[in-house]
Amino acid sequence: MKIAITGKGGVGKTTLTALLAQAYAETGRDVLAVDADPSPCLAGALGFPPELRAQLKPIAEMDALIEDRTGARPGTVGGFFTLNPRVDDIPDRFSVLYRGVRLLQVGRVYLGGCGCDCPEWAMF
Ligand SMILES: Nc1ncnc2c1ncn2[C@@H]1O[C@H](COP(=O)(O)OP(=O)(O)OP(=O)(O)O)[C@@H](O)[C@H]1O
Ligand SMILES: [Mg+2]
Repeated sequence: MKIAITGKGGVGKTTLTALLAQAYAETGRDVLAVDADPSPCLAGALGFPPELRAQLKPIAEMDALIEDRTGARPGTVGGFFTLNPRVDDIPDRFSVLYRGVRLLQVGRVYLGGCGCDCPEWAMF
């Protein structure tokens, strides 16, 4: 089962996501939580301690991996790239586990006008 939580700013998306992830994990389900917010804070909402948060590697910052999988170099403009790259190995390689919830972080947008993010977001 996949659940996507979206909505306008400040309505409680992160809070609800953390509560659902923890509740499903406590019933014994295998939970993979993906923080796709460009201003990520799901790790904090899930109570991840600082040493585990420090292990989270934002997928959108893995330029070599993104180029290998999509055929596009992040930061470049134009050209074709793969919209459905192979990603089946990503959760095992890059998620961090705490209290039964595996967490992945897509990454943040640091500033406006910093280029097209499409190849990075195709990974999700
Ligand atoms: N620690 C806190 N103390 C008080 N209010 C909080 C706290 N954390 C979140 N809130 C408020 O609770 C509401 C829901 O927060 P939450 O972060 O879950 O919303 P969100 O939809 O994920 O927000 P965003 O669009 O910024 O990602 C917001 O109005 C937020 O300002
Ligand atoms: Mg949020």
